[in-house]
Formats: sequence, C-alpha cells, structure tokens
Amino acid sequence: MGPVRLMKVFITRRIPAEGRAALARASDCEVEQWDSDEPIPYKDLERGLTGAHGLLCLLSDCVDKKLLDTAGANLKVISTLSVGVDHLALDEIKKRCLIHSGIRVGYTPDVLTDATAELAVSLLLTTCRRLPEAIEEVKNGGWTSWKPLWLCGYGLKESTVGIIGLGRIGQAIARRLKPFGVQRFLYTGRQPKPKEAAEFQAEFVTTSQLAAESDFIIVSCSLTPATKGLCNSAFFQQMKKTAVFVNISRGEVVNQDDLYQALTSSQIAAAGLDVTTPEPLPTNHPLLTLKNCVILPHIGSATYGTRNTMSLLAANNLLAGLRGEPMPSEFKL
Ligand code: GLV
Repeated sequence: MGPVRLMKVFITRRIPAEGRAALARASDCEVEQWDSDEPIPYKDLERGLTGAHGLLCLLSDCVDKKLLDTAGANLKVISTLSVGVDHLALDEIKKRCLIHSGIRVGYTPDVLTDATAELAVSLLLTTCRRLPEAIEEVKNGGWTSWKPLWLCGYGLKESTVGIIGLGRIGQAIARRLKPFGVQRFLYTGRQPKPKEAAEFQAEFVTTSQLAAESDFIIVSCSLTPATKGLCNSAFFQQMKKTAVFVNISRGEVVNQDDLYQALTSSQIAAAGLDVTTPEPLPTNHPLLTLKNCVILPHIGSATYGTRNTMSLLAANNLLAGLRGEPMPSEFKL
C-alpha cells in the first residue's frame, strides 16, 4: 500500500476546543493553524493557503479573488465560523465551480440564533434605557439624588418594532420582544414571509413605512448588494425623533456618516450597534463621542457554548466537504 495522501487544512485563528479536537482527530488531514487570537497577516494567510484543500476562516478574513488564486486548484472547501458569508468572494467561488470540480462553502446558521437574539435584545434595552450613561453617572458622582426627569428613556410596552430581515435571527428577536408588550411588529425583506410572520402578526411593509412607523428598529438582515447602505440619511429622516435604531447585522448596511448626523441633530433618539465599519472601530471615531450611541465589539454570538458549537459545526462542515459527504450546513451557491 502506498503512502496515504493527506489533505491539507489551514485554520486562520485559534478556535474553541471542540472544533479543534474534531480536526485533530481527522487522520486524513494535515492541519495547520495560525496559533493566535489576533488576525493572521495577509502574507501568512497566502502562505498557509497555498496548495490547501480546506480553509477554516472567520468573518474577519476577507477571502478575495487574489487569495483564491493563491490557494490554487486544490481548494475544495471553505468553511467559515460565521453565519454571514459576505467576507467571501462568492461570485469568484461560483466561477471556480464552473472551471474546477468546485469549491463548497460551509457556514454556521441556527446554532448562533439564540445567542445573537439575546444580544440584540440586551443591546436594545441597554440603548433605550440609557444604561451606559447611567452607569457612568454612578461612577462620576453625577448621581446626586433620585430625580423624576433624569435619565429617562423609552420603553417597549405598546410600541411598534420594525425588523429589517425577518430571518432566523429576526424571528428569534421578535419572539423575545413580544412578552415585553410590543403592540405591533413590522418587517421588510426580499419577500413577505406570511408563515413566519404569523407568530407575531408581523406586517410586511416598505422600508419607508418601517422607518416612519417604528419606535424601535432592529437590523438583522444579511449584507448583500441590496442591503448595503440601506440605512442612510433618507431612512433616518423618515424615522421618528423618539425612535431607537439597533444594528446587529453588518456595519455596511448602515451609512455611518448619516447615522452620526441623525444622532447629533436629534433626528433619532439613539442607536445601538454591535457591528460597525470598519471593525474594530478606531477609538477616535466620532460615533464614540456620543452619549446616545452604544457600541459593542461584534459579540452577537459570543457565549462560550455557542462559539464551541460553531467551531464544531465549522470543523464538521470542512471535513464532510473534503470527504465528498453531505455537509451539516452547506451554503448554497
Ligand atoms: C456573525 O456576525 C456571524 O456572521 O456569525
């Protein structure tokens, strides 16, 4: 028997234990990992990917045409530790499917839905009840007495909530917000989803109507050419002055300069962002100077359990793809 030819797998970062262990057990793979919590420099990524059969990457790794060219014809699977796939040059990947035998893409939907929805609700409440400002006042001596008009915010009871993208995560957010006494749910998207919307009696509306009628707006759509820059000055101008805007999707759905303008001119009440452009947001960014803007460092899925499960799913996607088996979560190109 000749020597077994191992498939080369490259992992772009340290990943949680379960995924790492699954790959370590794969006797048909030779696994190389960028053994750091910090991003891999582009040159090292190019080197690691050269001749690789499988790539396990993160949403912060931009897998572009140049990188795909570097990888070469061996590359069979890209498995991303994320539900979003906007960092992958999907058109280029599709083209290669026509030329070579094909590149399959794995991703991690479903397993992060609950954690991300929890974070969205946390961010919404943190923003609309002004928690960071309140915490700061306790620390800096601003808390001098209980004051009837001090640090008031907006409550969810009898409100209208607008959800941009009633997908898995959008629905999970609505499900969690309903018991707060929300009166009406509105949503936008590519097309109406009557079956899913029925649970919340959610109404499919235009983006303008959603902007104009919502007290709280949550962006939970994926980033596509159709959603890029969707929340711009025209959008913010249509919003109520008392409305709160939350984005847990991708920074690029929002025009950040327009958001800054809307927040500083009291066009809208407040914003909570778990995602920005760029990431990380530079510490001198103007949005960080605003009391009515709460910014988190893209932690939607960041629970220990969820990240572990994501890593295992990403590893299993990769291995199944390499072995020509059905992937647990394959992204349909
Ligand atoms: C997080 O943003 C993800 O895409 O998993």
